[in-house]
Amino acid sequence: MATHKLLLLPGDGIGPEVMAEVKRLIGWLNAKGLASFETEDGLVGGAAYDAHGASISEADMTKAKAADAIIFGAVGGPKWDGVPYDVRPEAGLLRLRKDLGLFANLRPAVCYPALADASSLKREIVEGLDIMIVRELTGGVYFGEPKTITDLGNGQKRAIDTQVYDTYEIERIARVAFDLARKRRNKVTSMEKRNVMKSGVLWNEVVTSVHVREYKDVTLEHQLADSGGMNLVKYPKMFDVIVTDNLFGDMLSDIAAMLTGSLGMLPSASLGEVDAKTHKRRALYEPVHGSAPDIAGKGLANPIAMLTSFGMALRYSFDLGALADKLDAAIAAVLASGLRTADIKAEGSTPASTTQMGEAIIKELEKLTA
Ligand code: NAD
Ligand code: IPM
Ligand code: MN
Repeated sequence: MATHKLLLLPGDGIGPEVMAEVKRLIGWLNAKGLASFETEDGLVGGAAYDAHGASISEADMTKAKAADAIIFGAVGGPKWDGVPYDVRPEAGLLRLRKDLGLFANLRPAVCYPALADASSLKREIVEGLDIMIVRELTGGVYFGEPKTITDLGNGQKRAIDTQVYDTYEIERIARVAFDLARKRRNKVTSMEKRNVMKSGVLWNEVVTSVHVREYKDVTLEHQLADSGGMNLVKYPKMFDVIVTDNLFGDMLSDIAAMLTGSLGMLPSASLGEVDAKTHKRRALYEPVHGSAPDIAGKGLANPIAMLTSFGMALRYSFDLGALADKLDAAIAAVLASGLRTADIKAEGSTPASTTQMGEAIIKELEKLTA
């Protein structure tokens, strides 16, 4: 059995708490002989800043480049509110994405049957929901230059962020979306604001031309990102795959999280290009949520987004899709049994801790793999 090298970057706040449950799962998989992982820990975010004065050290960047996959917790928190912008916790994550070329961010939003009543929306709107948001992750306003704040000298300052997209960036993310759709329900909805933004005009044009040239068999729809956001909460089941830019994808995926019951339910995979020689791709797996300072240190965090992010690693990096399916089934069974962390619990019931949830999932997995 091949041994896979993982770099674990727990980060800050609830990051280490939910990562502890992935470590428990990895330990169990290794012990059972179901997979073989070699892990190494690194520091990122505020934890790295406290140790090295940078949001990720050069040594950990080197480890990240050498790993078969990176498993990432979350970064940030009020403790680091005052640190210089360039070394703020979030900069470590952005550097990993950019330097490793992780341009394709897959954010699946799936409503587990047992959680149809945990959403802020009505059961019939979310029941059976299974959509995939494909967010462009290394371009757009996150990285465009100039990105400055200038003192205008008259008591005023000017802040500039720049939205930039080149054709090739839109083409490659569109292909990821169309390829995924072919394995799902064969529909892609592209979202931009071509009515206001030049980058939206180009986005629309390029996605359309990739469709016409290479993916005629897939249904393509265009929506403006504002009304698309409305549709996401009005009739989310109209979507299969949504492809959109870095900033819209960030916002739309947090919104989609609530369709599933909680931000603590949404995993993600950030993937690079497939290497022509090795057929491998760089990859980082992280929950969509942040460090949740309001619940950090209390054992309240829902570890499911972190565990299913690891499940995405099984699927997308290690060809262990059958094992990932079993992990999903174990999670569905635990949720059906009524065990819930505080964010998804039914009114009046006692919430499970992060650890109790992680242990219960492994117990179910034990039954499913026996
Ligand atoms: P957040 O995602 O940390 O929290 C938003 C809300 O969701 C909070 O009420 C929180 O308690 C809840 N929540 C999030 N994850 C949960 C979980 N697993 N279980 C239960 N409840 C959960 O967003 P925020 O409060 O806006 O940001 C806090 C910090 O996290 C900021 O510094 C932000 O920059 C950072 N952040 C980091 C990442 C990342 O590392 N990928 C992602 C988003 C935000
Ligand atoms: C996310 C986060 C990040 C983003 C931050 C922490 C840089 O919100 O992964 O969704 O904005 O991309
Ligand atoms: Mn976000």
